[in-house]
Amino acid sequence: MKKTTYTFLFFITALIGCKSETLETHIISTPIIAKAASVQRINTEAVGQKFAIATQGDHSTKAALQMFSMGGNIIDAAIAASFTLAVERPQSTGISGGGFFLFYEAKTKKTYAIDFRERGPHLVKENMFIDKNDVYQKSRSKNGILAVAVPGLVAGLFEIHQKFGSLPFEKTLEPARQLAENGFPVYPNLSEALLDRADILRQDPSASSIFLAKDLKPWPVGHILVQKDLAASLRKIQRKGRDGFYKGSIAKALIQLSKKENGLIDQMDLDNYHVRWREPLHGQFHGYEIFTMPPPSSGGVHVLQFLNILEKDNLAKHGIFTAKSIHLAGAALQEAFADRAQFLGDPDFSKIPVKALISLPYAESRRREISLDRARKANEVKMGNLQHYESSDTTHFSIMDDQGNAVASTQTINGWMGAGIVIPGTGIVLNNEMDDFTAQVGTANMFGAIGGKPNSIEPGKTPLSSMSPTIIIHDQKPLLSLGAPGGTRIISCVAQTILNYLEYKLPLYESIASIRYHHQWQPDILQIEMPGPTKIELKKLQDMGYEVSLSPVGCNVMAVAREGNNFHAVADPRDIGTSASE
Ligand code: DON
Repeated sequence: MKKTTYTFLFFITALIGCKSETLETHIISTPIIAKAASVQRINTEAVGQKFAIATQGDHSTKAALQMFSMGGNIIDAAIAASFTLAVERPQSTGISGGGFFLFYEAKTKKTYAIDFRERGPHLVKENMFIDKNDVYQKSRSKNGILAVAVPGLVAGLFEIHQKFGSLPFEKTLEPARQLAENGFPVYPNLSEALLDRADILRQDPSASSIFLAKDLKPWPVGHILVQKDLAASLRKIQRKGRDGFYKGSIAKALIQLSKKENGLIDQMDLDNYHVRWREPLHGQFHGYEIFTMPPPSSGGVHVLQFLNILEKDNLAKHGIFTAKSIHLAGAALQEAFADRAQFLGDPDFSKIPVKALISLPYAESRRREISLDRARKANEVKMGNLQHYESSDTTHFSIMDDQGNAVASTQTINGWMGAGIVIPGTGIVLNNEMDDFTAQVGTANMFGAIGGKPNSIEPGKTPLSSMSPTIIIHDQKPLLSLGAPGGTRIISCVAQTILNYLEYKLPLYESIASIRYHHQWQPDILQIEMPGPTKIELKKLQDMGYEVSLSPVGCNVMAVAREGNNFHAVADPRDIGTSASE
């Protein structure tokens, strides 16, 4: 079914809704489509009965589709999409990166949360990015070899495939290998990333030879980007699985580069890399069961915290883009991010008060701190007192199938083009995930996020993430699988999409395409996507004391929903993602 039909159905539903509701108590929500989402793109939405896929690329969606048509299962499709994304979006993810993978297995009715995020090399020091004058050297955690954390993607995908895949592992990598071998035209977002990172890429001969032209200018839109070395690396992983990356020539080239550049990663780090199978976080919103990523993601904790704080407000009765609703949601995000800065980090290294943070009594106490008509300044919003409640450039894709399985996975090399360096002879762009650690308590990382002691740099530790793959279950079946790239904004975007779908009852497309807002406590700004709410509501927000910035929020949601007998996939129309179904 086409998007226009959905929009039409939505308005019909809204009209019917108007008749059956008392208008005084229930203002029907009208979406305001974000300017960035109003560009007509092809294949962003798909509806089918066997399966549905939404990824942030065209080739990646097709790779997943190909696995299903070869008789593969949802995991084969997810692995194929992951490796193809690593080729198609070298600015966002890659085989030197890491990620989180949420899998609801119908057979066992169990949700798995798999953490294959990068870890701190064993030789790191807490103050490694602080100079002798106690100044944080920001570029060192973003560019070059010291920014690189131990990659986890290949280990994670291999292990997941071993446990749940059905086709031979080799086959799941083939679409990615072919894409790297044959190339694809550079698209605007990739070209923008290359331009943005050109100065860093220029300093590395391996990166320059792939991503820059002979005159060292970034490839323009339309240039066919061929990644022959990456194709050869994928071939090695096809043949050797995990060992193809963590041992042998790729590992050797990485260690040699690390030695030459005075980096820290060595073979011991690669040998000791372990995928962590974690217990997903579980919460409820209006009776829907929400399963999401636990620490070392902060995403799941704060998505649940946000929904808990707002559940009793029944925001739908105030209308979706009224000053009141935006204020309450913005204030809830402000509180969540204040807690993030204080409490979140790797649970294998510090005790993270997760239970308290996602408990209902704590949410109620936080909600009581929000006044109905006044914004609070960042210095008025402190992290909460948990004592009473504690008893003891990235990418995302979502897939669902008619067996009742669902996958939500977010993967990344962190910033655009990661650390801006490539392992010589391999075509592999290295991540800059070290920047997600708190280099110095109180200073911000590249997403402006302030971190606390639990996220300090330590050997073997996982840097705190905002990636929030989430699966919502209803009637014992997956209802919605979603997630997003976008740094700290991921949390706001995933939380709001859930709110739009479950609270405001918008159709999936409108839940994703509507304007979004983001508040991360510090900086003390309420960001709202253009065109923003109506002038009247905007003025009310400013009168409450918000500094509002009408600017892009910068994240893209990919989601699949089960709607009756159909699966409905939507790739955020703000970007080049596509959906497919059968
Ligand atoms: O794990 C995190 O939270 C970040 N490394 C994600 C980076 C990201 O989403 C970049 N996209 N804008």
